[in-house]
Amino acid sequence: MIQHQLLAGKRGVIFGALDESSIAWHVATQCVAEGAKITLTNAPVAMRFGTIQQLGEKLNAEVISADATSTEELTTLFHKSVDVLGGPLDFVLHSIGMSLNVRKGKTYTDINHEWMHKTLDISAMSFHRMMQVLYQTDAMADGGSILALTYIAAQRVFPDYSEMADAKALLESFARSFGYHFGVKKGVRVNTISQSPTRTTAGSGVKGFDDFFSYAEAMAPLGNASAEECARYCASLFSDYTKAVTMQNLFHDGGFSSMGVNPAVLSKE
Ligand code: NAI
Repeated sequence: MIQHQLLAGKRGVIFGALDESSIAWHVATQCVAEGAKITLTNAPVAMRFGTIQQLGEKLNAEVISADATSTEELTTLFHKSVDVLGGPLDFVLHSIGMSLNVRKGKTYTDINHEWMHKTLDISAMSFHRMMQVLYQTDAMADGGSILALTYIAAQRVFPDYSEMADAKALLESFARSFGYHFGVKKGVRVNTISQSPTRTTAGSGVKGFDDFFSYAEAMAPLGNASAEECARYCASLFSDYTKAVTMQNLFHDGGFSSMGVNPAVLSKE
């Protein structure tokens, strides 16, 4: 594992580590290897079905349950984290996504709007809610860094990604809008990372994921970016080496987003 003490002395909160395949699992591991102290959080239901407690033990990190759709639970989470870590937060990762319509097999042209509301609440509004709590309680340190994970379906059509495409478009917009306010107030950076398809619980829930994955792998000159590579990119964005990067959607996809035609894909049967 590459490690350079990039985050020595920094404090952070990592959302969304469910099991070993989760992108957040890798980010948490990388951040601690880089010298950070962190707390881990996930929804109460994930505490029962996932293996986050094992990660907490391995990284010596307190695990605090919080539903990202509850302002009250988020307030308690950040309050406890500042307490446990011994000061304001230098970085926060939002790595949360869930689509009720995709999970229940509803197609995009036959959406259940109650479920869509919930999808947007969990996958996008939770990012605004989280930042609002951090902003209002002054829990971020000056010059801190906030990141959320997103996918290119926010800009281009991937039909099976369904309502999650709209959730991601909203999520990316929140990074720009809140990035302005957080920048002016405390020099805090807010960005989204647009990650390649990655084999995780959320990723594999998308219909035709294997085709998605292999298409992107063939299109991208560097191939798909792995979860470990994403974790290293996150660490760099939490570090002091990226202090002037904010309000950006940053593609971490092996070059996929800049490709038009790749002869390697055309020549496939
Ligand atoms: P994952 O299934 O491991 O992570 C999703 C997490 O969201 C889980 O830990 C889950 O417990 C959490 N979550 C769901 N509802 C919640 C709630 N109400 N409160 C708090 N947490 C809640 O899957 P993965 O792939 O690691 O997903 C992480 C992020 O990366 C998501 O935003 C996803 O959309 C994004 N992403 C994933 C890609 C992929 O191909 N796997 C590609 C690009 C972005």
